Amino acid sequence: MTVQFSPAAGRDRFVGQAISRVDGPAKVTGLAKYAGEFAAPDLAYGVVVSSAIAKGRIKRIDAAAAEAVPGIVKVITHENRPATSQKPEDYQDAVAPPGAPFQALASDRIVYSGQPIALVVGEDFETARYAASLVRVEYETAAPLTDVTAQSGASYDPPMKRAGIKPPPEPWGDAAHAFDTSEIRVNAQYRMADEHHNPMEPHASTVVVEKDGTYTVYDKIQGVSNTHDYIAGAFGLKPEQVRVLNPYLGGGFGSGLRPQYQLFLAMLAAKDLGRSVRVTLTRDQMWSFTYRSEAIQTVALGADPSGKLTALKHDAVQGTSTYEDYQEVIVNWSGVLYDCDNVALTYSLTKLDTPTPGDMRAPGAVTGVFAIETAMDELAHATGQDPVQLRLKNYTEGDQTEDKPFGSKELKEAFRQGAERFGWDKRQPEPRSMRDGRELVGWGMATGIWESMMMQSSARAVLGADGRLEVGNQTGDIGTGTYTILTQIAADTLGLPLDHVTTKLGDTKLAQAPVAGGSWTAASSGTAVMKACRDIAEQAFKLARGMDNSPLANVDFERAVFTGGRIEVAGDPSKGVALTDILKATGTERLEATAEAAPDKDFEEAYNAYTHSAIFAEVKIDEELGVLRCTRVVSAIAAGRILNPKTARSQILGGIVMGIGSALHEESMLDHRIGRFMNHNLGEYHVPVHADIHDIDVIFVDEEDKANPLGVKGLGEIGIVGVAAAISNAVFHATGKRIRHLPITIDKIV
Ligand code: MOS
Repeated sequence: MTVQFSPAAGRDRFVGQAISRVDGPAKVTGLAKYAGEFAAPDLAYGVVVSSAIAKGRIKRIDAAAAEAVPGIVKVITHENRPATSQKPEDYQDAVAPPGAPFQALASDRIVYSGQPIALVVGEDFETARYAASLVRVEYETAAPLTDVTAQSGASYDPPMKRAGIKPPPEPWGDAAHAFDTSEIRVNAQYRMADEHHNPMEPHASTVVVEKDGTYTVYDKIQGVSNTHDYIAGAFGLKPEQVRVLNPYLGGGFGSGLRPQYQLFLAMLAAKDLGRSVRVTLTRDQMWSFTYRSEAIQTVALGADPSGKLTALKHDAVQGTSTYEDYQEVIVNWSGVLYDCDNVALTYSLTKLDTPTPGDMRAPGAVTGVFAIETAMDELAHATGQDPVQLRLKNYTEGDQTEDKPFGSKELKEAFRQGAERFGWDKRQPEPRSMRDGRELVGWGMATGIWESMMMQSSARAVLGADGRLEVGNQTGDIGTGTYTILTQIAADTLGLPLDHVTTKLGDTKLAQAPVAGGSWTAASSGTAVMKACRDIAEQAFKLARGMDNSPLANVDFERAVFTGGRIEVAGDPSKGVALTDILKATGTERLEATAEAAPDKDFEEAYNAYTHSAIFAEVKIDEELGVLRCTRVVSAIAAGRILNPKTARSQILGGIVMGIGSALHEESMLDHRIGRFMNHNLGEYHVPVHADIHDIDVIFVDEEDKANPLGVKGLGEIGIVGVAAAISNAVFHATGKRIRHLPITIDKIV
């Protein structure tokens, strides 16, 4: 299918080009402001006091010493907290899982360690922080349960399913019997670690009380619509009483999908005091909400001696909080990835005394694909197959979980190009057979997969008499390059120079759009922007045809070419008229359009849409010391049309680095005796640093997809999926030791 951006000519001048970020200069010069940086007259500062216990209740909380500090405005605790909505559903944001969302300072009950128990509001941040250290708390402590392994026996099938999260498919064939009678069997348990998102920008909210009594809220969120509706619901405000902005995000990775407690507390204090308030969380408080919770996974594969799968079982038990049934897709991927006649997939939850886990980059897929792709490597070894050949042998052209073909799937080509770039054909199959001096060398590979989604979204475009175009909607650019790709799409659709287009995002005054998540933003907002601009193109064309002596008088819209700020006739560029002249001649001040984009129902009926990747990794391991370096990664991505190879590559690079973190570094350590994440800082929670990152090569495989008119499938998440398995498989190849529990640290290697 041909994708046309300009109404007639299909001329893509900017789409497909490696355009640098249009928001780059604002971000590197400090012009870009973040939620905790907006100022207001008479701004007060709130500092959160966090619970020292994980479970129990507050017997006594004494804020007298804090309140006595000069410059302290108020200390809010559960004892004097102003009333907010009593209905749990008013706190359920757009992406909330089933359950009763956490409400800060609602009662004396403690449900997780680090839970906010007081807000100390002061004239300045330092004073508030000092006074917060003076709040005295007596607790009645109960024994917390935070060990997913110990609790896995108490797992349950969540009664309410989370919207947008597919439960495991019904089993097909007879996996148990087929496994028992298979000639080759692989059966093992796989574990990751709890991981926390740590975007550069910690969570922060600035609530500005306007003179007319309305609120302007700057919130660290991946989509302002979610904050807006949450605030209006929780505080019983009319929609027009709240405006939410978040033009820039210092990283999200899913941590900014749901409104968090600092927003609630800032709003609570601002409304109560009638004064603007900012609440910024500290780095260690970033461990007090949302995380990628560990799952206990078992994968059982049965195969014939040639490596053809005869049975596939994948079971996962994942931790959630006591108050919400957080759910993600962990096991389904195994059924989507491979052709097998006997498949059984199960997923259940177990309650822990932790905050509710949340979406963290490729939620569920990172976890589940690590297990299935390590198991597939074990099967390759057990059957003496090359890991790529094994995957080709079990390749599927359709999604067996729903009996639908894929809209597109160029995974075979990704395997081919990735293997070629990596030099996979030089791999010696035997573990411990490749060396570089004193280092063992391991080459491993894995497949990655993520669902390609689109959400209902709108966008507005305004073309001014000066020929400048403004487009935008409420969604957030979470660092992925959304400003840039929307600018490219708009410029191409109306044939404008790039610098004539301004894209605005992250403001509830703009056109409706959902949070930026799920890798759906390019498809959703991109299509909406294109449609709004096309609407303007049609309006301009109509006006042009009606002009005196119009060169377009007898031309059909299909033959009009929008280029260089003009409408020209295809094949006869001398015939044309500038957009500015059209508006001037017709006395038009501006042309405006708002367009809606929604998933294509016919497409969704007929096809399932996924992105895929083939990841090849090299590790070098010092044999004596066990020191491991991931020296090379090649990732070949099949994700439909690439709007901007530069921002696209950056997304994949970031995903791979995060995957290296997941494989080798990241681990939030719970002390189960006190139910607390102990390494709640970036000194002890390790993420890859520059010295950990070596060669990374990203390939985009040609793939034509028709799920949306842009042909895009999303890139924010596919980059991380499967990376940990590729690395753990490389570690096995290097050492002969199979490590099924991430992160792979030195103690596990030696
Ligand atoms: Mo993503 S985890 O949907 O921000």
